[in-house]
Amino acid sequence: MEILIERDLEAVSAKAAQLFWMLSEKYKRSSSRYAVALSGGETPKRLYQLLASARGRKDIPWNKVHIFMVDERFVPPDHPDSNFRLIQENLLQSISLPVENIHRMRTDCSSANICAKNYEAAMMEFFKTYDAAILPRFDLMILGIGEDGHTASLFPGSSALSDREHLVAAVRKKNIRHQRITMTLPVLNNARNILFIATGERKSFVLNKVVMNRQKRLPASLVNPENGKCHFFLDRDAAGEILHHSPAE
Ligand code: 6PG
Repeated sequence: MEILIERDLEAVSAKAAQLFWMLSEKYKRSSSRYAVALSGGETPKRLYQLLASARGRKDIPWNKVHIFMVDERFVPPDHPDSNFRLIQENLLQSISLPVENIHRMRTDCSSANICAKNYEAAMMEFFKTYDAAILPRFDLMILGIGEDGHTASLFPGSSALSDREHLVAAVRKKNIRHQRITMTLPVLNNARNILFIATGERKSFVLNKVVMNRQKRLPASLVNPENGKCHFFLDRDAAGEILHHSPAE
């Protein structure tokens, strides 16, 4: 596990953009595709804007990049709460990515369950993993964390959290405004790189429980790619509790 502590959201986002770019380097001269999965939420907005900046547009081999979505709310893509809308407005509309490289979690089916099944089928098609026992392997997944320890749309105690059969699941939960569609833990844990980004003091308590104690009831603690790397890029406020509990040098 790599933990990087930066000054603020801007610095965290810059380091995250650098990791995205560094991992994309090897695809410049290869015929392989760079498969990434993006989350919604407030925190990654600045990262997406930096990826879409002049530097990102120049340095990243966008024609090799395939963008998937970690999770989505079951709302139309132009809804204010849509993750696709967020990714579109902060990243996609500023880069020229072939349409076939954008793998939107569609929400125009009759139920969130059917949408989840369709996205699973689309992932299997892309990764050519027609046998359910073979998991897709993303090069990079960007994840956030909620104060309750959720990540993606995997909430504490939800059935999607213990789903080991599906790649994508629908989530219905009291107290969340919209139904969700989310990639499941087996997919997250098969990624080559997981990058958690979190900022602000509100996240400090839960981050200490996730990073230092690996508390199993917190979904983010269950993200632990066996054959991959897990990076936590935090600002000083979010890392407050971790720093407080770390032994002084
Ligand atoms: C989403 C997410 C979710 C998010 C966390 C943190 O679609 O909202 O994928 O897991 O990353 O809730 O959200 P913030 O970045 O807004 O704090």
